[in-house]
Amino acid sequence: MSRLVVVSNRVSVPDRKDRGAQGGLAVAMHAALKRNSGVWFGWSGEVSEHPGAAAFRDVEGFTIATIDLTPDDYDEYYNGYANRSLWPLFHNRMGHTAYDRLYDRGYFRVNARFAHAMAPHIRRDDLIWVHDYHLIACAEELRRMGSSHRIGFFLHIPFPPADLLLTLSSHETLVRGLFAYDLLGFQTEADLRSFRDYVVNEAGGVLHEDGRLEAFGRTIRAGAFPIGLDLDEFRALASSREAGRQESRMRRSLAGRKMAIGVDRLDYTKGLENRFLAFEQLLAHYPEHHGNLLLLQIAPPSRGEVPEYETMRADIEHVCGRINGRFADVDWVPIRYVNRGYPRRSLGGLFRAAHVGLVTPLKDGMNLVAKEFAAAQTEEDPGVLVLSRFAGAARELDGAVVVNPYDPAVLMDAMQRALNMSLEERRERFASMDAALRRNTVADWRDRFVAALRDTPRTRLSEG
Ligand code: G6P
Repeated sequence: MSRLVVVSNRVSVPDRKDRGAQGGLAVAMHAALKRNSGVWFGWSGEVSEHPGAAAFRDVEGFTIATIDLTPDDYDEYYNGYANRSLWPLFHNRMGHTAYDRLYDRGYFRVNARFAHAMAPHIRRDDLIWVHDYHLIACAEELRRMGSSHRIGFFLHIPFPPADLLLTLSSHETLVRGLFAYDLLGFQTEADLRSFRDYVVNEAGGVLHEDGRLEAFGRTIRAGAFPIGLDLDEFRALASSREAGRQESRMRRSLAGRKMAIGVDRLDYTKGLENRFLAFEQLLAHYPEHHGNLLLLQIAPPSRGEVPEYETMRADIEHVCGRINGRFADVDWVPIRYVNRGYPRRSLGGLFRAAHVGLVTPLKDGMNLVAKEFAAAQTEEDPGVLVLSRFAGAARELDGAVVVNPYDPAVLMDAMQRALNMSLEERRERFASMDAALRRNTVADWRDRFVAALRDTPRTRLSEG
């Protein structure tokens, strides 16, 4: 069977001592890579003036190959085009989107560098699977070098509506780059529709009856492959001793109060400010919560060198400080705002101690925290998930209270409803989410994508 080659900006090294430290995606990828001694290519996380060739390291049955970035690469490709142009635009945040030619050039240059670094190490029958918005242009460069491999691409974030994409001068180059793949995977049908819409209406392409798309001289497959959770693994983590310790510690500190919890990377797409404002309205409308309810917001900082993240961080601190100042008492602070990450097994315990999980991004590809919160609950006394309709997870988790996160009053009503929900309704909702999580685990997702990629015909070089 052919070997798998995974390519992504960040690589994840297996942690022998602590499997629970890894996300489900990493564990699923490691398992697939181990099956036939595959390779995972990516950025080393290092920035150096003179990056050499790729560095190889054998880990638990497969190989990790990484390259460093130069300071210019880091600014233009990672902080620039990936995280100041594509990330905001693909999350419908035009106001945060930077339009900069230097970034465009840096992005395509680094994508080509990745392709050149990996090309000599790819074998004839390898299946290549590229992940996420950082490396869209990788396959096109591989084709230029003569690759006829089966190459798949999965976009972990949303695909934007055509009108937004068209604001990027590089829109056509980007989509032409996507047509160098054989299979494209999106998180939801809605993302797939946006992509098809662009292809048919802006690129003069054709949508064939069997779903294949034809444009830029190539015909490719594209589908929705919503990512899942390693349910058994997360449940085991949430039932571990460490999780139990964290849960008891939290319950002791709650001292009979109720808790709503949010766990998000500190990112403007996550809707933290709206969440805090809705929580403020809840406290203002329902004084019974004073002293009896708190919001634990865990928000590890991220991409701190991108100016929009700095500004947002200051804004959120301001709002949080204001709300706490307004309502806090000598023995109660309404929002516990924590800027650090916790191991996943600790999160499992915290999720169990919570009455409500708030996952209210303004836009999100899938949002695995929503699935993890649901997975951590128990039938005995399940917490309620309040979930943004703009997260991919809302398409599957029909047991959640689905909300429009833009409207603080809607969010407030949903929190109030969740806090007062009967045990019977909570159990029904839990059962339906549990069924959804079982239907589609991360291993199902991976296997479906790889099987679909294996099924695509090999590219004929004249097509490239
Ligand atoms: C999102 C992206 C990932 C990315 C992660 C963390 O989930 O889809 O590709 O790795 O954010 O962001 P960072 O910039 O730290 O890699």
